[in-house]
Amino acid sequence: MLTELLRNYRDRVEDQLQSRLSERSGLEPRLQDAMRYSLLNGGKRMRPALVYLATRFCRGSLEQADTAACAIEAIHSYSLVHDDLPAMDDDELRRGKPTCHIAFDEATAILAGDALLTWAFELLSQPDSTITAQIQLQMVQALARAAGDLGMVDGQAFDLNSVGKQLTLVQLKAMHSAKTGALINVALELGALSAEATEAETEALRQYGTALGLAFQIKDDLLDIEGDTATLGKPQGSDQARNKPTYPALVGVEQCRAWLIELQQEAVTVLEPFGSRSQALVALAQYVIDRDH
Ligand code: IPE
Ligand code: IPE
Ligand code: MG
Ligand code: MG
Ligand code: MG
Repeated sequence: MLTELLRNYRDRVEDQLQSRLSERSGLEPRLQDAMRYSLLNGGKRMRPALVYLATRFCRGSLEQADTAACAIEAIHSYSLVHDDLPAMDDDELRRGKPTCHIAFDEATAILAGDALLTWAFELLSQPDSTITAQIQLQMVQALARAAGDLGMVDGQAFDLNSVGKQLTLVQLKAMHSAKTGALINVALELGALSAEATEAETEALRQYGTALGLAFQIKDDLLDIEGDTATLGKPQGSDQARNKPTYPALVGVEQCRAWLIELQQEAVTVLEPFGSRSQALVALAQYVIDRDH
């Protein structure tokens, strides 16, 4: 059931991204190609799915969530383009294809990332008859805080500055929650905002997202060791080769596996008071720790 739901949400956001991007004509062709290449190139589309799942959980309509779903995937795709650059993780494969700077060039990859990042806020702030301007403003602010120096960018900076250093568990957790958790949490928050959620729903989603976000990055770290390049669509062993600060490097594979189960249970427990309404989010928490890519 979750697989089918995820496929529906993936198709939905891809249609939206495709049509919204094709409305933009007259761009420098190389920039336009690099944006399309980086955005419409596969990917699990998990953050848009989280927007839709949160909206549904809060009894909102998917139409109200479409723009937020597109905006978050634009930010996420930009973050991957920049994360792969030689100055950052220096990776050559992403979503099963050459990374943007390999397929094009470094300057184009930087600019395509910049453009996707900026586009996300253009999307969120443009007139939308399905939600109020006040909610749109809250969405813009939430996404800006999660994506920038209070969230993902800070986590990425910490990640790069920690290469070769021994972090404490507290530091590593803070890094993961900033570089990955912040976007996962805000995906749920955007869904809640679009549906005008109650305080109780918003708070439950926040706690669920915090556990899910950490589990997501611990699993990503584990897949770097246990996955295979073809399935991952990105180079297995890249973290180890670059001596990146990861959970398995600090505490070992077995401890990571045990914590994944704990985090999944933590995420699910928060949603218990909501009964069958939380079914899909519960299934997603299991998917995040079981996934092979
Ligand atoms: C990869 O994210 C980057 C991390 C934050 C770990 P995903 O695993 O969601 O990548 P795609 O979007 O499916 O390619
Ligand atoms: C990246 O984390 C998180 C981002 C904000 C992009 P990783 O560097 O572990 O992501 P992958 O493994 O390259 O997808
Ligand atoms: Mg990285
Ligand atoms: Mg990387
Ligand atoms: Mg990784």
